[in-house]
Amino acid sequence: GAAGLVVGAAGGAGISAAVSGDGTASANGAGGPAALTTVGSTEVMFHGKHQAGITTPLQSRGHLVAFDLVPGAGRKEAVALMRRWSATAKTLMAGKAPGQDTGVALDAGPSSLTVTFGFGRTFFDRTGLAARRPAGLDPLPAFSSDALDPRRSEGDLWVQIGADDALVAFHALRAVQKDAGDAARVRWQMNGFNRSAGATARPMTARNLMGQVDGTRNPRPTEPDFDRRIFVPAGATGAEEWMAGGSYAVVRRIRMLLDDWEKLPLGAQEKVIGRRKSDGAPLTGGTETTELDLDKRGPDGRTVIPDNAHARISAPEQNGGAAMLRRPFSFHDGIGPDGTPDAGLLFICWQADPLRGFVPVQRKLDRGDALSPFIRHEASGLFAVPGGPAEGEYVGQRLLE
Ligand code: HEM
Repeated sequence: GAAGLVVGAAGGAGISAAVSGDGTASANGAGGPAALTTVGSTEVMFHGKHQAGITTPLQSRGHLVAFDLVPGAGRKEAVALMRRWSATAKTLMAGKAPGQDTGVALDAGPSSLTVTFGFGRTFFDRTGLAARRPAGLDPLPAFSSDALDPRRSEGDLWVQIGADDALVAFHALRAVQKDAGDAARVRWQMNGFNRSAGATARPMTARNLMGQVDGTRNPRPTEPDFDRRIFVPAGATGAEEWMAGGSYAVVRRIRMLLDDWEKLPLGAQEKVIGRRKSDGAPLTGGTETTELDLDKRGPDGRTVIPDNAHARISAPEQNGGAAMLRRPFSFHDGIGPDGTPDAGLLFICWQADPLRGFVPVQRKLDRGDALSPFIRHEASGLFAVPGGPAEGEYVGQRLLE
């Protein structure tokens, strides 16, 4: 109802709300144009322990873009590129215009823009840094249900752009591509979205394009083991030393077979996940945040949350306690010649170690959870996302220098 409007209007003209990469707010009066609402004026800090765009609240727009260094470009070109990209990201995230600006974002505030950079496995060969490639970048195993398109997978470099305004996000994408110059070429690019801030009367967990409340059981930064699960520890040694404060991103373009899904009656849809569609509560009762009662049986003697329910199989308690932070965007790339939407989830999950986060969970899901018949993994990427740059540093400096 009308209450949804209040959220966006709370800031007032000229008040600039700043949010650091890890989501904590601080006052900031400096920088670009003052936006009329808190949506436009919210600024995420570029410098910090971790890169922005990992624990930052979901933004309404996302662009993912992977680059390959051009043949002949090596470490020197990579250093120059990371310097350019870092300077541009810092400028744009502050709501300022870069040199030779396109003007696309001129009237908007920073709008929670984040630009996050990662290195793929092949980057290390191209730059002569193979000895410093961390084990976390070992290729993901093949899964039986994979239908991966190599041209839309992996890449030397990966950039994740998120913003709460479509023009601000597009503006950043163009700037990043322009900065790549003669050093790197786009390998693949994907566009995503989430619900706009203020669309719901109060902040709520996001929904995906199947209509499910998605993200409920994500680990929270306030939990004592959050950092250990999501970020490489400060004392990392060997080939992973430069990754301290960093995280590994697994990116999967997961197509949803929506025509099939939408034919399922509500009750059957809810059994696929093990949660109610209306509010995300477990089928065993309570509210969205109530624990799943995995042992509870119905009158028919079967577990109320089916044995192949997605939420049962993916729960960390069922996977040796491993956890990942899921921070996806939905995508919709139009309707295909067969009339089915090319839509789904740009699944992005963050973890300190992919072999303890994504891999064991996907192995189990791949054996056939109830969701599998309704989705198709079409592209995959694994990227080492270094820690946040200190003041005066560029992203990746601890690897490249
Ligand atoms: C939980 C949907 C793919 C891992 C959930 C939930 C939904 C959901 C609705 C329950 C609410 C929540 O806790 O967030 C989907 C959809 C997918 C998908 C629609 C594909 C299009 C994946 C993949 C993985 C994964 C590929 C990892 C390999 C998890 C985990 C949880 C979860 C770890 C939380 C379980 C818990 O802690 O209890 N997912 N998911 N999901 N999903 Fe997925």
